[in-house]
Amino acid sequence: MSGFLGSTVGKKYLMGITGLIWAGFVLAHMAGNLLIFVSHDAYNSYGHALTSGNIIYVAEAVLVLALIVHVYTAISLTIANRSAKDQRYAVTASGKKKTSLASRTMAVQGSLILVFIILHLITFKYGTHYTTNVHGVEMRDLARLMVEVFQQPGYVVWYFIALILLGFHLKHGVNSSFQSLGLMEGTYRNTWKKLSIAYAVVVIAGFLSQPAYCFLAAQ
Ligand code: HEM
Repeated sequence: MSGFLGSTVGKKYLMGITGLIWAGFVLAHMAGNLLIFVSHDAYNSYGHALTSGNIIYVAEAVLVLALIVHVYTAISLTIANRSAKDQRYAVTASGKKKTSLASRTMAVQGSLILVFIILHLITFKYGTHYTTNVHGVEMRDLARLMVEVFQQPGYVVWYFIALILLGFHLKHGVNSSFQSLGLMEGTYRNTWKKLSIAYAVVVIAGFLSQPAYCFLAAQ
């Protein structure tokens, strides 16, 4: 990458935009998943409608591309940051590091989230293909798969750990994206910060409700 997009500011910009694309996707994904609380038929019909058209391929291509750019810029910025030792060891007057634990561990969190996404796709997208019939239409029974997966304590514990980690990553990431896009200057600084926290809490609480519900309903 050369020119603006190859510069540190350009890479931060790209990382912010691609992060926000994923942030939009996870919010929509979480909201769609809540249909499991309406009924299994509602959830399956929603999944069927989403995957029946061609739009899904466009969405998947955008997500894959955004993820590649996000990971590439993250690695590149982390390497640049590590070599700038002065910055890395910056301390405040009290001797404490300026950055929070959440921000210093973004690369580790991101790597674990990448592992989570791969395992998640294996479990659900490429998992057991049960079928069901809703009002005469044959479709995949994803609700059955979800309930079956989250009746296993190992999956529930893993999802809780991964999702809480994702919550911290989202909170810090969305906030940093606003910063990279120049929205954190001036009077709205605190509003954007609160928005990032509210967003992360809503997304993670929504996602956690599914494993919690499926596990408890089976007890
Ligand atoms: C309790 C939490 C979650 C549940 C129950 C859940 C459920 C599902 C299910 C059932 C699918 C398969 C959809 C299909 O093939 O039609 C799916 C796909 C997917 N999920 Fe999740 N998900 C959860 C959390 C997440 C999170 C946190 C992320 C991202 C960080 C994520 C990313 C994806 C992606 C990228 C796909 C593939 C979409 C596609 O290519 O069509 N999911 N999820």
